[in-house]
Amino acid sequence: MNPATAGAAPGPLIALEGVRKCYNRGLPNEAEVLHGLSFSVDRGEFVALIGPSGSGKSTLLNIVGLLERMTAGSYRIDGEEVTGLDDAALTLRRRSTLGFVFQFHHLLPAFSALENVTLPALMREGRITPARREHARAVLAAVGLGDAMGKRPGELSGGMQQRVAVARALVLEPPLVLADEPTGNLDTSSSDEVFSLMRRMHVELNTSFLLVTHDPRLAARCDRVLELVDGQLVHDGLLAGPAGHGKAGRDGAGGAPGRTEGPAT
Ligand SMILES: Nc1ncnc2c1ncn2[C@@H]1O[C@H](COP(=O)(O)OP(=O)(O)O)[C@@H](O)[C@H]1O
Ligand SMILES: [Mg+2]
Repeated sequence: MNPATAGAAPGPLIALEGVRKCYNRGLPNEAEVLHGLSFSVDRGEFVALIGPSGSGKSTLLNIVGLLERMTAGSYRIDGEEVTGLDDAALTLRRRSTLGFVFQFHHLLPAFSALENVTLPALMREGRITPARREHARAVLAAVGLGDAMGKRPGELSGGMQQRVAVARALVLEPPLVLADEPTGNLDTSSSDEVFSLMRRMHVELNTSFLLVTHDPRLAARCDRVLELVDGQLVHDGLLAGPAGHGKAGRDGAGGAPGRTEGPAT
């Protein structure tokens, strides 16, 4: 059974309130980069996070990913407050709840695609059972890499590497996948392919996604768009404007101004 729905508590999957993040606290170069954000993501939602370079998208994703601690605020996963947990508990939470896809695939170069996709099971369970290895094979086949399982990352194209990374993020069927510019390094057709793959896995597994993208075409294909500007959420709803659905967002703000493709940050 899919852990995204198994025994799930009612209410949102994740809920963040009043999130502040300050770097270099107490030093002359102290800087607050997130200024009290609140939002939640439901089970099975596919959400884009957009905004200019330096607006705090990666910082926010790292906080949601339990890779970084917030300075103030509340973060509940399935109703449980996680801000007070110690590092060991956070690691367990991360392994049970979250999958990650980064801009650069972060696959281990000396290992085959199949070995890379079995790593999350090794990390979480301390070993790789035959059933886990079989499942990893099935997931790689599902992402169209049935014939490339024995290849190392260096022998694969950029799009194929990212499909391995998506397989690795989803192999343990986490309820939430966080993706930071997963297509930022790909040409348009590979980018579409990887995005469509995430969309398909989202439908098949009811996985929630929070996806940072600079690409308004991709944001327009998400269920909901959060827009961050200077550490503040300025929009939460559908993407408005030419690339979007042409509807005002749920905050009625009329949505985001035109954006251009920028370097991924
Ligand atoms: N480890 C850090 N120490 C200090 N400042 C940081 C650190 N990480 C990010 N920042 C600053 O926080 C702001 C937001 O960065 P980031 O979250 O990477 O934005 P984005 O992903 O939207 O481009 C930027 O001004 C950046 O310079
Ligand atoms: Mg970034």
